[in-house]
Amino acid sequence: MCGIVGYIGHREAYPIIIKGLQRLEYRGYDSAGVMVYNEDGMLVCKTKGKVADLASKCESELNLVGNLGMGHTRWATHGVPNDVNSHPHVSNSGNLSIIHNGIIENYEPLKIELIKRGYTFTSDTDTEVLINLIEDVQKTDNLKLGKAVQVALNQVVGAYAIVVFDVRKPNELVVARLGSPLAIGIGENEYFIASDATPFIEYTSNAIYLEDEEMAIVRLHKPLKIRKIKDDTYVDPYIQELQLNLEQIEKSGYDHFMLKEIYEQPSVIKDTYRGRLLADQGIIRMAGIEDNLEKFLQAPRIIIIACGTSWHAGLVAEYIFEEFVRIPVEVEYASEFRYRNPVINKGDIVIAISQSGETADTLAAIKLAKQKGAFVFGVCNVVGSSISRETDAGAYTHAGPEIGVASTKAFTTQITVLTMIALRLAQAKGTLSKSELQLYLQELSNIPTKVEECLETNEQAKIIAAAMKDAPNCLYLGRGYNFPVALEGALKLKEISYIHAEGYPAAEMKHGPIALIDEHMPVVVIAPKQGHYDKVVSNIQEIKARKGQIIAVVTKGDTQVRELADYVLEVPDTADALSPLLTTIPLQLLSYHIAVMRECNVDQPRNLAKSVTVE
Ligand code: M6R
Repeated sequence: MCGIVGYIGHREAYPIIIKGLQRLEYRGYDSAGVMVYNEDGMLVCKTKGKVADLASKCESELNLVGNLGMGHTRWATHGVPNDVNSHPHVSNSGNLSIIHNGIIENYEPLKIELIKRGYTFTSDTDTEVLINLIEDVQKTDNLKLGKAVQVALNQVVGAYAIVVFDVRKPNELVVARLGSPLAIGIGENEYFIASDATPFIEYTSNAIYLEDEEMAIVRLHKPLKIRKIKDDTYVDPYIQELQLNLEQIEKSGYDHFMLKEIYEQPSVIKDTYRGRLLADQGIIRMAGIEDNLEKFLQAPRIIIIACGTSWHAGLVAEYIFEEFVRIPVEVEYASEFRYRNPVINKGDIVIAISQSGETADTLAAIKLAKQKGAFVFGVCNVVGSSISRETDAGAYTHAGPEIGVASTKAFTTQITVLTMIALRLAQAKGTLSKSELQLYLQELSNIPTKVEECLETNEQAKIIAAAMKDAPNCLYLGRGYNFPVALEGALKLKEISYIHAEGYPAAEMKHGPIALIDEHMPVVVIAPKQGHYDKVVSNIQEIKARKGQIIAVVTKGDTQVRELADYVLEVPDTADALSPLLTTIPLQLLSYHIAVMRECNVDQPRNLAKSVTVE
């Protein structure tokens, strides 16, 4: 839930670290800090606020010159965001420093023990406890840094990706991971360390992703040594070639990453089905499904686990799988699933959906499902992420890096993958006729062009945003396939504009929420022509009778709803099952413009972070 960057080599460390932290700011942005080492020792600069605040503080107060350093952008867990709680943390002796992403769950007893041994603490963080524990171990047993880190980590419970430095070993950084990601970029006589590869893609395309329970001693002019934290087994480093490019992680002329990512949807949906969907030949093929086709065909039930937007994609998939494949599907919040005692029967398949592939609750739910004997299939965006490695098989979405905290292209590409899976299973099972199947394949391949048409609602979305921006509350209603879209629309609005919004199945309105409707309540209704159109029109009448402000997402050419609604956003016609891929687009644009008009930080909404690697 925090971003970490480290550098050791021949370049100036500070600019690499600051730029890297800016790229990782999606992971947390309530405070930040940097340490650069040179012959004067460790120079540390920390502040509450964003990386830009850190940069202006560092540049006005210090001359951070040196070829080794580390930096951190924080999402607070232990201790409020302030200068003192920011990382890096320095040990009592002043010899060691650390940056940490994760949580040390047993920090309290460790802290009590260290206090008894004379250690003092200035921050409220678990991380300061860890660095002093490492120092204590190092001193007591007279150990080298790497060994001391290893011994200390074997005493902690929790999750971490850490970088540790010892002033007495100025050519070395020690890194370790458990439950939080850590990549090491390998250059010519230089190493980069980061939570993901974005901070170093312009310097090297070779990277190693540490596995859980692995640590590495990163030494200048020496090959990397990776070993297990639990024992001293050495692991052969597996160097991957990165597929990222700089353009993918820059705003490319857009005001915000969120807007750029909304506009990328036609191309990334295409990327997601490219080579997998050959509509003309009636072919859908995905290696992860083909290799496990029998298991899927025999499965009595599918359980989908996910959080947030990914959970909404799971709900869309529930409707699609049940209709196309005639298999019972349950969709669970991963955070609930992991803490009850879910029934998993022989043959049940669990599908875990996650953009980041690092969400702690989803990861824990996967582990539980595996313990209970389920075959777990992952739908992830980030290649090599923890979830993609923990699952038995999977299919990647090809959305590219999603940097805006609000998920947009992740959602539509997840639905694309899940739809392809459902179609492939329906084909194998014969639950859709050949002509139905052909129709869906064709229509799915038309979706990118239709999403482009949906993006034409941008100007209209701005007009509606101006009318909605001061509303304190908002309702989103949809039925069938578009009920999850209503939930997703409401989530988008609340997370980036801080307007309270709720999504409901349209017909549920009369069981309670209707009491909220008056002339001040904007109600966004998703009412495409296919599906339960007439029923939704009746719901719209009910809202109108109570003077609610109606904003409707309709199929192009619709006249009936247009007459009733205050505003409409038009999307092209498509099959009911595929309509979420279109109806969601104007809602993303609407939330975006409302947030911009309210002067909210669209890409980094308050209190949130992109990947939630804590419970
Ligand atoms: O990376 P994941 O898909 O596992 O993340 C799950 C949620 O944290 C995420 O979808 C969150 O709800 C987004 N901020 C929504 O826009």
